[in-house]
Amino acid sequence: MLGLFWFWFGSVLCVSGFDVLSCRNSSVTLNVVLLEDEDSPWSLKFVKDVVEMAVEVENKKNQDVGLDFQIKVLFSGFNTTHYRRRGCGSSTCEAVEILKSLHNKSELGCVMLGPSCTYATFQLVDQEVGLTLTIPIISAGSFGLSCDYKEKLTRLLPPARKISEFFVHFWHKYFKNLKPQWKTAYIYKKLNNTEECFWYINALEAPSALFSSNISREMLRNQGDLKKALEDKNRHSNIFVLCGTPDDVFSAMNNINIPPNVVFVLIDLYNEGYHTNASSFDHMRNVLVVTMHSFRSYSNHSAWKSNATALNDYVVGYHDAVVLFGKTMRDNLLAMKNQPFSESSGIIEHLFRNTTFEGKS
Ligand SMILES: *[C@@H]1O[C@H](CO)[C@@H](O)[C@H](O)[C@H]1NC(C)=O
Ligand SMILES: *[C@@H]1O[C@H](CO)[C@@H](O)[C@H](O)[C@H]1NC(C)=O
Ligand SMILES: *[C@@H]1O[C@H](CO)[C@@H](O)[C@H](O)[C@H]1NC(C)=O
Ligand SMILES: *[C@@H]1O[C@H](CO)[C@@H](O)[C@H](O)[C@H]1NC(C)=O
Ligand SMILES: *[C@@H]1O[C@H](CO)[C@@H](O)[C@H](O)[C@H]1NC(C)=O
Ligand SMILES: *[C@@H]1O[C@H](CO)[C@@H](O)[C@H](O)[C@H]1NC(C)=O
Ligand SMILES: *[C@@H]1O[C@H](CO)[C@@H](O)[C@H](O)[C@H]1NC(C)=O
Ligand SMILES: *[C@@H]1O[C@H](CO)[C@@H](O)[C@H](O)[C@H]1NC(C)=O
Ligand SMILES: *[C@@H]1O[C@H](CO)[C@@H](O)[C@H](O)[C@H]1NC(C)=O
Repeated sequence: MLGLFWFWFGSVLCVSGFDVLSCRNSSVTLNVVLLEDEDSPWSLKFVKDVVEMAVEVENKKNQDVGLDFQIKVLFSGFNTTHYRRRGCGSSTCEAVEILKSLHNKSELGCVMLGPSCTYATFQLVDQEVGLTLTIPIISAGSFGLSCDYKEKLTRLLPPARKISEFFVHFWHKYFKNLKPQWKTAYIYKKLNNTEECFWYINALEAPSALFSSNISREMLRNQGDLKKALEDKNRHSNIFVLCGTPDDVFSAMNNINIPPNVVFVLIDLYNEGYHTNASSFDHMRNVLVVTMHSFRSYSNHSAWKSNATALNDYVVGYHDAVVLFGKTMRDNLLAMKNQPFSESSGIIEHLFRNTTFEGKS
């Protein structure tokens, strides 16, 4: 019994390890599987140029250090224009179909970039869903809690769990003369959230998740609820969390007298405007914004061949995914070349974990 168990365990490890050498040999190395639509910020039509650019740079680096490894990339977009539900809503099964068909045509490489949509990625990485075909995935997106702790998945942008953990920490934090400990919140869930806002708010809503088990939160599900809460003298909380842009704050506040002791917390991670605009809007006066550091090195557009207006954190995330993959392969191939008799077998157990690399976003 014990022997059997170990055998099973051992074979699982073999399957899950990443084989650098067979990756070097495969005829396609990177599959890029993304929506190809008009409005998603991570649409393949925006991502394609920057991925090709990154592949070129990485391949040049390999050549310069004398490696014969070249990244070969294959793009598979899914056009959902003819679906009734556009965007992520329609992409759930599509990604699985693409994966199967790539496998069928022997065009499945060793790493996949995308999808960005949580549901689509979940179908690909969740073994319990029954898909035996798996491939390491690097995603700019896939924010939802259902994609947490998936061995095959590496996410380059902050997942929802990280945001809700930050919130719990921040709520508990006391800053002298600035902020008491907070114990309550209203979470405003707009009807029309973007993909990232949907998942960030979802993590604050989910009853079993960290935030709701530590913070007494109430959900507001429409503008009417919000207005009622703001006008209520005995309101549950003075802290109102929402996700979106300054425009969403503006329309949420529309025609409501905001009491002076109310503060809004706006989640707006992927908006460069807070760092580039010299001034702010008047209605943002009592709004705390949760956004990313201004470490974007892509703002200076001159280096980018592609249409600069299409650059955003998602697009640049996929650029960086190529850099991460390229670096991992190069480091391992070089190590094997320099020490051909070491016990290194070229199998990486925890691919893309605990690593640091220089990206653009
Ligand atoms: C990779 O290809 C080389 C020759 O092209 C071959 O010698 C080697 O055995 C192959 N390695 C794997 C892991 O398939
Ligand atoms: C998607 O399909 C629609 C209709 O089938 C077509 O008009 C559109 O150009 C396609 N988009 C892309 C990016 O291929
Ligand atoms: C691909 O699919 C076709 C039709 O579904 C099937 O006949 C063929 O055997 C498959 N090829 C591979 C390599 O799985
Ligand atoms: C939701 O967004 C779509 C497209 O962005 C827009 O056409 C629609 O009017 C919005 N619906 C609501 C209820 O705001
Ligand atoms: C959050 O709640 C869980 C369960 O109620 C508890 O175990 C955990 O310590 C709490 N975390 C914080 C930071 O308070
Ligand atoms: C930055 O300024 C532009 C132009 O006025 C405006 O459209 C945008 O919403 C601003 N962004 C932020 C975050 O204030
Ligand atoms: C962009 O980079 C160039 C040189 O790298 C620099 O001279 C220029 O000031 C930068 N522009 C901005 C807007 O930062
Ligand atoms: C760049 O992209 C924007 C939005 O996708 C588009 O409106 C514009 O025409 C494009 N410009 C060029 C030069 O391709
Ligand atoms: C991560 O890498 C660093 C440096 O290589 C190492 O010191 C650390 O123990 C690693 N952490 C984990 C959790 O593997």
